[in-house]
Amino acid sequence: MRVLGIETSCDETGAALYDDSAEGITSNQLISQVDLHAQYGGVVPELASRDHLRHLLPLVERAFVESPGKIDGIAFTQGPGLMGALLVGSAFARSLAYAWRIPAVGIHHMEGHLLAPMLVDPAPAFPFVALLVSGGHTQLIYAKDLGTYRLLGDTLDDAAGEAFDKTANLLGLAYPGGAALAALGEGGDPHRFYFPRPMCDRPGLDFSFSGLKTHALVTVKKHVDAETDFFKKDLIKKDIACGFEAAIVDTLIIKSRRAIQDTGARILVISGGVSANKQLRKKLLAFGCEQGVEVFFPTPELSTDNGAMIAYAGYLRLKRGQQDGLNFKPKPRWLLTELS
Ligand code: KG4
Ligand code: ZN
Repeated sequence: MRVLGIETSCDETGAALYDDSAEGITSNQLISQVDLHAQYGGVVPELASRDHLRHLLPLVERAFVESPGKIDGIAFTQGPGLMGALLVGSAFARSLAYAWRIPAVGIHHMEGHLLAPMLVDPAPAFPFVALLVSGGHTQLIYAKDLGTYRLLGDTLDDAAGEAFDKTANLLGLAYPGGAALAALGEGGDPHRFYFPRPMCDRPGLDFSFSGLKTHALVTVKKHVDAETDFFKKDLIKKDIACGFEAAIVDTLIIKSRRAIQDTGARILVISGGVSANKQLRKKLLAFGCEQGVEVFFPTPELSTDNGAMIAYAGYLRLKRGQQDGLNFKPKPRWLLTELS
């Protein structure tokens, strides 16, 4: 079965082809809108929709040039995400499927992230605990099977990626900033400035990251002003970035460890944009070795938003006989646990 996957939930336009009889993903095309939104310090929804509209068709054509041939179905991100952006992808995918007389299926964006590690060899198998860390979500999920997901923990305020982005902005780094903050923190001193590990001193699997961002702001204000020497200022920012990153990484690991203990799962899957973070990967792999838990990540390109994860999720759902009718309905708000 060959499936076209279309991703337009936020600021990345993705189109990919998945083929179960070939090597899996045979084309994975992506256009990022990061430069478009960077000047505003965050995603501007109207600009995002227009940019998806401009790039989607040429991107799909590029996918078919790289991997020609018929397809058996089309998968598109139905939610959660920005309403206008979701509408562009859904309307395009649904219309193309109608014209080509093939089935179309709407995919939950976070299910795409959750399944993305399965595109890498060796692939994880259900059941597992998934840590989903992106710009909009920080969740621990017990994934029993395809569509059977139990929410173990969620963020009470900012997502981990959001906290990375806001703190990066504070340090003068361009949006989205998570990867740039991690690069700035490389070689820094994680102990020079104290950063708390929020909600780790009480039971439960929920997260809270907004306090960390405020903590970073207070630290910057206390140690950096107009008089601070240029080199000293740079070093202070490096150490703040390093300490902040270590606090987020430690918190994610402490909660993942608890989730593994609570569920008895022996497999941990980490996905979403923040899973591209090198410190997080290194420390989670060490945790896995120490506890005898298998740890799986997608490749860095499959960690952030992409069409490949949507094509793959669509393939699994179409194979199960699922397809959507002609009435498509984008769902900007949609819980992963509502799936079946
Ligand atoms: O999954 P994703 O591409 O989009 C959403 O669905 O939100 O995640 C984007 C988030 C951004 O907040 C970005 O700063 C963060 O992932 N991110 C990182 C790294 N690479 C991307 N955060 C920390 N370290 C990284 N290396
Ligand atoms: Zn995402």
